[in-house]
Amino acid sequence: VTLQAFLAETRQLVDHALDRWLPPATQEPVQLHEAMRYAVFAGGKRLRPAIARAACLALGGEDQAAVPVACALEMLHTYSLIHDDLPAIDDDDLRRGRASCHKQFGDATAILAGDALQTEAFALLANQCGLRMVAELTAAAGTRGMVGGEIADIEAEGQPPERERVESIHERKTAALFAASARMGAIAAGGPDAQIDALGRYGRWVGLAFQIVDDLLDETADAATLGKSPGKDRASRKMTYPAAVGVEAARSRAAECVQEACAALGGIPDPDLLAALAEFAVTRIR
Ligand code: IPE
Ligand code: IPE
Ligand code: MG
Ligand code: MG
Ligand code: MG
Repeated sequence: VTLQAFLAETRQLVDHALDRWLPPATQEPVQLHEAMRYAVFAGGKRLRPAIARAACLALGGEDQAAVPVACALEMLHTYSLIHDDLPAIDDDDLRRGRASCHKQFGDATAILAGDALQTEAFALLANQCGLRMVAELTAAAGTRGMVGGEIADIEAEGQPPERERVESIHERKTAALFAASARMGAIAAGGPDAQIDALGRYGRWVGLAFQIVDDLLDETADAATLGKSPGKDRASRKMTYPAAVGVEAARSRAAECVQEACAALGGIPDPDLLAALAEFAVTRIR
């Protein structure tokens, strides 16, 4: 299959499963469930689910085996976006092409919708996938991963940019969840530890490339294409990759990361989709 077809299929599978898993918007507390669904079903790329599925398939796993993991990753990711957009963090009004969750529902509901999505992610893993998957996602999402990266990102605002510091922020706030996506897909396939670790390295490189390109798109893209407000990083004096090394060096570092990601696929039986996803992380326009 082509990458476009694979992404479309991932969206269909994952959106269907998410719709079944999440409480209906008619169920009390209605406002909370509406906000959760508003944020989840807003047209994200579903890239972390795609990586989990592709990792599972690359090791010969059953397609259905990766679906719960893919849903948990997307709920966790959506929670991170809701909280990232809050006035106290990045203060962004536009997300996934529409008003950000707190703009639409208010800060209190947005905070709680994020909390509830995170809890639902772990509930899904605990109920359908077992403790090992729970442990994988907690490691990537918590203080040693995404949340740790988010606070480091805030603390770095206005500081003189340094390449190593940006890379450490990007590793934690973004690459950790990409690594977990690939690892969890591999675990769902029942793959051996060596291949799980190799796919974890692949995911980490893709995630770093992905966040460097996110920084570049913030400088170069328009709001209609991006679905979020560009130019915010510079205005907030964020310590981005291009701020640290310049646009050209940031582009070549992202390309280098894709090379590293593909190099990590050496021992993987069926790596073509994963390689295409790594490429997509840097060629995307939104
Ligand atoms: C945005 O992630 C947050 C970052 C880690 C840069 P995505 O660009 O994957 O967002 P969606 O899911 O497609 O909206
Ligand atoms: C944050 O990075 C990534 C998360 C962990 C949510 P950004 O703050 O650059 O993400 P965007 O640009 O708002 O999507
Ligand atoms: Mg941020
Ligand atoms: Mg942000
Ligand atoms: Mg950004």
